[in-house]
Amino acid sequence: MRKFFLVGLVAALAVAVAAMAAEMPGKITIKDCADTKTPVTFDHAAHVKAAKDCVTCHHTQKDLTAENGTTLAVEKCGKCHIKPEKAETPACSGKKMTDNPYHIGCVSCHKETKAAKADTKAPTTCVGCHPKAGA
Ligand code: HEC
Ligand code: HEC
Ligand code: HEC
Ligand code: HEC
Repeated sequence: MRKFFLVGLVAALAVAVAAMAAEMPGKITIKDCADTKTPVTFDHAAHVKAAKDCVTCHHTQKDLTAENGTTLAVEKCGKCHIKPEKAETPACSGKKMTDNPYHIGCVSCHKETKAAKADTKAPTTCVGCHPKAGA
């Protein structure tokens, strides 16, 4: 009887872990401020490999790791970058490379990548991230 209970418990735990692990995103589409430009789709799983650690992008969550990332609540960038509390905080509506959090964080790494490896697939042109509307 006790043995069956344990087997059931282990199976239930395995299902729970699988359900949580499924929350680690594959592809993500960012459309926090999509207004004049098309939303941007990127491969989160590939970027987890490209970046040294989670905090490179999730800069408000220093303790986030691949191990706890499926159990911790991961904050949406838009929570603070759609309508920032302070005027000096970059907003996703920013058009320039220096005033949009995604341009600052994403494009800078792509430029560094390109400088080190000319044939990289990391896009640095507008259309590489914002596909033409209707395409
Ligand atoms: C590495 C990817 C990347 C590149 C390259 C890039 N952007 Fe963006 N851009 C983004 C992301 C991500 C957002 C946020 C999208 C959102 O919030 O909807 C964004 C937002 C914007 C916005 C504000 C939101 C909107 O739709 O009006 C504008 C304007 C914009 N980009 C223009 C450009 C222009 C012009 C270029 C080329 C000089 C460019 N971007 C290159 C990723 C990129
Ligand atoms: C190249 C940048 C980058 C790296 C590196 C990165 N992430 Fe993300 N991650 C993002 C972006 C951007 C989003 C979309 C957030 C949003 O929708 O506002 C996201 C979303 C997520 C989400 C989904 C959140 C939700 O509620 O939709 C989880 C979970 C997550 N990341 C975990 C991790 C973990 C764990 C790591 C490290 C192993 C990691 N990320 C590394 C950029 C990154
Ligand atoms: C809890 C609020 C909060 C969340 C969530 C958040 N940010 Fe930020 N972010 C800020 C604030 C405030 C600043 C400006 C001050 C600073 O640099 O800390 C900022 C600044 C930035 C900068 C500019 C840094 C520089 O060197 O100028 C980038 C890039 C950035 N955030 C990207 C992101 C991305 C990508 C996400 C989601 C994966 C995200 N942020 C989630 C609050 C947040
Ligand atoms: C730590 C460096 C780094 C950061 C930060 C980064 N990228 Fe990338 N990105 C790369 C590299 C490296 C590649 C090329 C991968 C390959 O060669 O297959 C890439 C490829 C891409 C591509 C084309 C292939 C794909 O994934 O669909 C897109 C689109 C992209 N990145 C968008 C983004 C966006 C949006 C952000 C910010 C939320 C971002 N990247 C942040 C390094 C980075």
